[in-house]
Amino acid sequence: MCGIVGYTGSKNAVPILLDGLKRLEYRGYDSAGIAILGENDIIIDKVAGKVEMLSRKIEKKHYDSRTGIAHTRWATHGAPNDINAHPHLDCSGKLAVVHNGVIENYRSLKIYLEKKGHQFYTETDTEVLAHLFEEYYKGDLFEAVREALLNVEGTYGIAVIERDNPGRIIAARLGSPLVVAKGEAGEYFVASDVAAIVRFTKDVIFLEEGEIVAVDAREGIKLADIKDNREKKVEVHTIDMDLTEIEKNGYPHFMLKEIHEQASTILNATRGRLDAENGDAILQGLADYNDFFRNVNRIILTACGTSWHAALIGEYLIESIAGIPVEVEYASEFRYRNPIIEEKTALFVISQSGETADTLAALREAKRKGARVFGICNVVGSTIARETDAGVYIHAGPEIGVASTKAFTSQVMVLALIALYLGRRRDYSLSQGKNMVREIQALPEKITELLQHEEDVKKIARYFRKAENALFLGRHINYPVALEGALKLKEISYIHAEGYPAAEMKHGPIALIDENMPCVVLANDDDIMYEKVITNIQEVKARNGKVIAVATKGNKKIKELVDDVLYVPFTVQALTPVINTIPLQLLAYFTAVERGCDVDQPRNLAKSVTVE
Ligand code: AGP
Repeated sequence: MCGIVGYTGSKNAVPILLDGLKRLEYRGYDSAGIAILGENDIIIDKVAGKVEMLSRKIEKKHYDSRTGIAHTRWATHGAPNDINAHPHLDCSGKLAVVHNGVIENYRSLKIYLEKKGHQFYTETDTEVLAHLFEEYYKGDLFEAVREALLNVEGTYGIAVIERDNPGRIIAARLGSPLVVAKGEAGEYFVASDVAAIVRFTKDVIFLEEGEIVAVDAREGIKLADIKDNREKKVEVHTIDMDLTEIEKNGYPHFMLKEIHEQASTILNATRGRLDAENGDAILQGLADYNDFFRNVNRIILTACGTSWHAALIGEYLIESIAGIPVEVEYASEFRYRNPIIEEKTALFVISQSGETADTLAALREAKRKGARVFGICNVVGSTIARETDAGVYIHAGPEIGVASTKAFTSQVMVLALIALYLGRRRDYSLSQGKNMVREIQALPEKITELLQHEEDVKKIARYFRKAENALFLGRHINYPVALEGALKLKEISYIHAEGYPAAEMKHGPIALIDENMPCVVLANDDDIMYEKVITNIQEVKARNGKVIAVATKGNKKIKELVDDVLYVPFTVQALTPVINTIPLQLLAYFTAVERGCDVDQPRNLAKSVTVE
């Protein structure tokens, strides 16, 4: 979950590293540090706090160095303070390490190294790596790192520099993402994510699991397998990412920018994938598995967090449109159960980042059991995207706000396409398919219209400003939307919120209702549950609860029953989750802003959870 970046070349490494860290800060932001090669030593500066603090600390020092590594941390072992911040040095101060991941056997390695005389200064698991590399060092850092890593259990993306070998960075990965990039002649970058380096180059090498690389300003790249030291061919990919995609472009926060991008991200998720004539979805990514999908009789969807909410919506969509039984599993639970995978079972893993450790582990466990595993990912070339048999990209573009917004609606959109694709190979009729295609095509315009009313949501955020608790209620396909609305509010405004199926409220949560607890109820016109939801609203009102309804534009009657209404354009029930989620995202956003919270970097969280 931490971000690492390294640079070697002819330019001053310091501004490049700081810029890279800033762009990786979504991965973790509790402390930051930098290590650069000085004339005769390694210079380290690190601080508790954000990258901005680090920049301010070193600003006046006017460092100038051709090689360095840097880190922004999300603490796992040891409090987020100056000492535990990366980089970490060995005893002699001749090498420095930054690390993303968890060294699971660090305790036994530490005991072993202490017995050998190594002195430890931090509470981190990472420091053992610095000492272990020192222990194995016999004049060649590449070999020392490689051999030492054979003794390491856990996950790592690392970058290491050496005092006596300027111009060289050693990097390796297992279970944590890492890319290497080529800049101008003799210039190399190492980073957790391409966002850190796209300003400088688009020529990227995606490190595979278990690979180690040396980038050297004079000698070029050497890539090998950690286990057997077999040298490997370097494959350079040109990435398709524009700098504007990872900048705020005038918005105060990435989250607001990403909420506003949803008309175009929904369009991108469906572009070239709709067959209006046949009322069908065209999913090239699954084309090689057409026969398999024709006979699939069970689907498992697995994911974490917001992506898990999308999976729950996927369950409703696939079961109602394609008539195939679907199970939804938290990836963190799936991996430790003994899931039954049969020949005709398809498993979809859903992940924005494509790097979530639990989701990746679930994928690997399913593959080990012989399952056909398909991905629904955003980040192109991510580990999950590469390890699945096939899949469908959601094409939402980089999502930088820690709270997932546009990726969620695009995941739902792709799940609707998958449902349509499976349904049209079964009993979903041509006219039903054509109607669904038309409704999907109409969505971007409806989203644009919806976003023009964000001021209405801003006003309603006042109910939430002082709230300590909030309830989100929905039924049927909008129950997961209620879960997502609650998660968004929790994540960024720190208000305790719960999502519930509206009818379940009377089995417990109704006890919480009073005039201080706002209750958001999803009540679209087309919902087959509309009348039932109205009854649930009455139940809340009878207990002095404050109700904010999300209802279909034109429904005037509902206004008489509730305290406030957020109107959304009409769409068919299957697509209401896409439309309904947007006001809930805005509500969480404006509430967090009102409460003075750090919207893009909420406390304790990180965008991409690469530890178990
Ligand atoms: C979303 O707002 C969250 N920050 C989080 O729940 C996220 O959805 C989860 O960690 C899964 O991430 P992924 O989609 O990248 O796998």
